[in-house]
Amino acid sequence: MLTRRHAIRLGLTTGAVGAVGAAGGLFTTLTAGGAAAAPRAAAPAEVEPFSVPLTVPPVLAPYRRTRNADHYLVTMRRASAEILPGTRTDVLTYNGTFTGPTIHARTGRRTVVRHVNALDMPTSVHLHGGNNPVAHDGGMMDTIAPGRSRTYVYENRQPGATLWMHDHAHHMESEHVYRGLSGLYLLRDPAEDQLGLPSGKYDIPLVLRDADFDDNAAMVYTMDDSENRTTILVNGRPWPYLRVEGRKYRFRLVNSCNLRIFVLALSDGSATQHPVQQIGTDGGLLAAPAETPVLVLSPGERVDFVVDFSKYAPGTRLTLANMLGPGPSELVGQVMRFDIGEPTRDRSRVPAALAALPALPTPTVERSFDLTMDEPGSGGHQAYINGRTFDADRIDTHVAWGSTEVWTVTNKSLTIPHNFHTHLVQFRILERDGRPPEPAEAGWKDTVLLFPGQTAKLLLTFDSHRGVYPYHCHMIDHSAMGMMAQMKIS
Ligand code: C2O
Ligand code: CU
Ligand code: CU
Repeated sequence: MLTRRHAIRLGLTTGAVGAVGAAGGLFTTLTAGGAAAAPRAAAPAEVEPFSVPLTVPPVLAPYRRTRNADHYLVTMRRASAEILPGTRTDVLTYNGTFTGPTIHARTGRRTVVRHVNALDMPTSVHLHGGNNPVAHDGGMMDTIAPGRSRTYVYENRQPGATLWMHDHAHHMESEHVYRGLSGLYLLRDPAEDQLGLPSGKYDIPLVLRDADFDDNAAMVYTMDDSENRTTILVNGRPWPYLRVEGRKYRFRLVNSCNLRIFVLALSDGSATQHPVQQIGTDGGLLAAPAETPVLVLSPGERVDFVVDFSKYAPGTRLTLANMLGPGPSELVGQVMRFDIGEPTRDRSRVPAALAALPALPTPTVERSFDLTMDEPGSGGHQAYINGRTFDADRIDTHVAWGSTEVWTVTNKSLTIPHNFHTHLVQFRILERDGRPPEPAEAGWKDTVLLFPGQTAKLLLTFDSHRGVYPYHCHMIDHSAMGMMAQMKIS
């Protein structure tokens, strides 16, 4: 496993991601601070890392296909799932599976999803990263009552991207997502099909999250507890392994944690770097592949990358290591393992040009947003944007339809990382702490990570739908603590 020293060196020497460089000095504070709950002495249910095979979430089949639309049915219900081997855990699910099912969608083709709420609490289904009218955005106040259903229509007028369906019911979203109301929505577009990227069974989603299990394998939810969620799950299984062929694979990482930030690298146990090619960000493909030794994802962020396992001798085992706390590195320092097999024929490729990103429009409005939270030990448990906690009856930002704006977002917390997620729009990062974004952050984004003290300048164009949409910290325990606000586009 990579040690902390390796992690810091990677961050500082490669400069692959600005955030990591700045994070070097934060390791201690991130590891020790920002927790509402004290670490428990008890070990989580014992799981031997890399003892369970990776599974891929089931792909949902449409119950009806018309000339231009696919219709799906999802029932939100309680279920029991085998997460830790040989045990059962009660979870909240989309259609009974943990992680939830994946919906495949195509740009230009409509997706219609009828969600039946068979739970005993209100829910709301948000398509994270989707550009949709308010009525189909799954807003926090726009909930589905128990026993009722709701049909969401997604027109898919945006580039192919890894989108994420998750609960957004006000004040419940963090616990609902934690307990399992989460599923993937993979949008593909025709231009992407022409590129020849690894596809089919060589295009694998990796939905990352952490969880805290008690001795009976029940999931423990404590608001803002970043210390005890030390079991790392990929597609709903703890520290899995995946047997891969000696060829290229495309992996779509999704950080579905409430609080945990991942700084990931392929590791063979030595200090050798094993760079991968990042090909996409939250909102779709990058203009060109970016070779990087580390992949950084805060909650809500997605990273699309390609690894060529043919570079390694059959029998090689590479761990996807995580270099950021909090938590003991024996537990949170590793995510999954790739067991590399014989080379196989591979016609896929990673072209030098992936997607055409439009020129940046000229902004006419500038605003700033400061993120703060009651500091650990202060006794307070609220979180703020520009000094205010969320109020569903207040519009915080009035935006003129059609305009392009620059939003300067600063994390003013002393020790706590935050991020910033906008509904409706994908933005571009203009600057991070005064410097242009690293290649890995130069594409479409809907969520941006900000370590304490960091600032990012975002460019957003509001030329699709009108209405009231939220923006918030996607460390969703924080948004549930108030770090959320509303913009009205009119
Ligand atoms: Cu993942 Cu308000 O969103
Ligand atoms: Cu969202
Ligand atoms: Cu936050």
